[in-house]
Amino acid sequence: MARVTAGVATSHVPAIGAAIDRGRTREQYWAPVFAGYEWSKAWIADHTPDVVLLVYNDHASAFSLQMIPTFAIGCAESYPIADEGLGPRPVPVVEGHGGLACHLAEQLILDEFDMTVVNEMSVDHGLTVPLSLLFGQPERWPVRVVPLAVNVVQYPPPTGNRCYALGEAIRRAVASYPEDLDVQVWGTGGMSHQLQGMRAGLINAPFDNAFLEKMTAEPEALRQIPHIEYLREAGSEGIELVMWLVMRGALGAHPKELHRVYHVPASNTAVGHLVLEAGWPT
Ligand code: DHB
Ligand code: FE
Repeated sequence: MARVTAGVATSHVPAIGAAIDRGRTREQYWAPVFAGYEWSKAWIADHTPDVVLLVYNDHASAFSLQMIPTFAIGCAESYPIADEGLGPRPVPVVEGHGGLACHLAEQLILDEFDMTVVNEMSVDHGLTVPLSLLFGQPERWPVRVVPLAVNVVQYPPPTGNRCYALGEAIRRAVASYPEDLDVQVWGTGGMSHQLQGMRAGLINAPFDNAFLEKMTAEPEALRQIPHIEYLREAGSEGIELVMWLVMRGALGAHPKELHRVYHVPASNTAVGHLVLEAGWPT
């Protein structure tokens, strides 16, 4: 039987990917950001899952305003790296897990989550930067990845409550897959940031730290945060945090916080990172 063993939350700032790709991680500006991930890299080397269900958002790379799926699940065997304007990042192709992905698509849809099934797409920094942060620069990624894309780019995104419920359904769906698989669920994006307009550069450390604190033991409070509160408190791109709630919903009751990082700044963003061990049994 497959099971969700752990969850990882991390920001997915594209400049972090560029710093890794260009060998700039030891520079004064970047060193504290990467220091926060040293523990996690050692941890995941000992706890490498078979599959990462990676919750992220596409930033108008694979999808455009022509197609805006609220929740999309990748069922392909592999995913090319998107060209976001400067050529694709020099990272390995992302290998999928078609068997688990098709099972999840079926179970989630029968569980009344109307997923969009994607059989072909490229993946952008939202998905590749978290892989680089945890796995560095390998020849091949050491895990298979099931991409789960959430629309947080074009209004209306799904509510945090709906994202959490999707996570709960993911936990059930993983547990009904017959193959013995260790599955981690990662939630990416956040924390507070706003990339445009009058409030560009907004960072709200009290909001972010309260969010980090409540992720483990008080997720019910986070489920209730309305869109307008994310906008007001965490900036227009702070809404990416609803993707962390998919991860949290998949961990069941009483997960354990293993690691926490908060660092400002990385580009325009407050970097937040959590490693949570799943509650077990549910
Ligand atoms: C930045 C952060 C993001 O999450 C993103 O998708 C793009 C840019 C930034 O801080 O620059
Ligand atoms: Fe983003």
